[in-house]
Amino acid sequence: NFKDLFPHEITLGIIGGTGLYHISDSPELSEMLEFVEEIPVVETPYGNTSSPIYIYKTLKTKNTFYVSFLARHGLDHKYSPTTVPYRANIAALKRLKTKNILSFSSVGSLKQECKPTDFVLPDQLIDLTKGLREHSYFNETGIVGHISFGDPFSLELRKFLISCNEQIKNYSQTLHENGIVFCMEGPQFSTRAESLMYKRIGGEDAKCINMSCIPESKLAKELEINYQIVCMITDYDSWRLDDKAVDIQEVIKNLKENNQNAKVFISNVVSFLDSIDTSVGQKLKGNTLNSISVKNIE
Ligand code: ADE
Repeated sequence: NFKDLFPHEITLGIIGGTGLYHISDSPELSEMLEFVEEIPVVETPYGNTSSPIYIYKTLKTKNTFYVSFLARHGLDHKYSPTTVPYRANIAALKRLKTKNILSFSSVGSLKQECKPTDFVLPDQLIDLTKGLREHSYFNETGIVGHISFGDPFSLELRKFLISCNEQIKNYSQTLHENGIVFCMEGPQFSTRAESLMYKRIGGEDAKCINMSCIPESKLAKELEINYQIVCMITDYDSWRLDDKAVDIQEVIKNLKENNQNAKVFISNVVSFLDSIDTSVGQKLKGNTLNSISVKNIE
């Protein structure tokens, strides 16, 4: 019973991470997307969104699609990974009838082959956060609900992203197509012993670590929105014992390069939106209604 914020559904809701606060400043994207409207910071029952939400429409696709952008940490980066209003952000995207969320995040690499400035599309996640964030919408409903989270990311959306990038000729972005992302509380980076422990826990599949895909991915699942994190590597974390344990200057340099590459990545994906499977969101339908909650057990 909310008033409509925007009349059309949003096919792709982009969430920007550290350093990715706008997409309208990119030449690649301004060819693909036309700015439509700024929705000021949205008030929700879970607080205000971290930033306004910028709405664009596609210019070069056969059909018209709407794409939105929200800055996870705020335009002035005032929210730490622990204090980001995740529930407000995802609730506002739901209210905008968002079908797919593409969420960008800086990560440390846990594997030699995963080099700084490579991107990773993980298919699995290990939650190492410390219980300081609200992980569910059920808390306020008076109902205890448990939903399936075995596949934290959307297989269909991941496949679509991979195919978009394969179809671009001479595209030099290295994309690792699966693996485990760990999500830690932060804000400090890990000790060398912790970093080695993640590698041991995840084995061959341990690819990267960040601080923000929890609870974002869980909340998207509760609200039945397809969600995929795009991990952009800034450093080798702390497991390489003869190397520095996260060099901040290196992180900043790679962050800048990654955020430029993220805009190219987005423009590739936007150019293929005609071929996105619009039924993908249907898969999650009923995820929450059919959750293990009192009304379904009685
Ligand atoms: N974000 C960027 N680099 C990271 C790292 N090494 N650990 C956790 N989050 C990160």
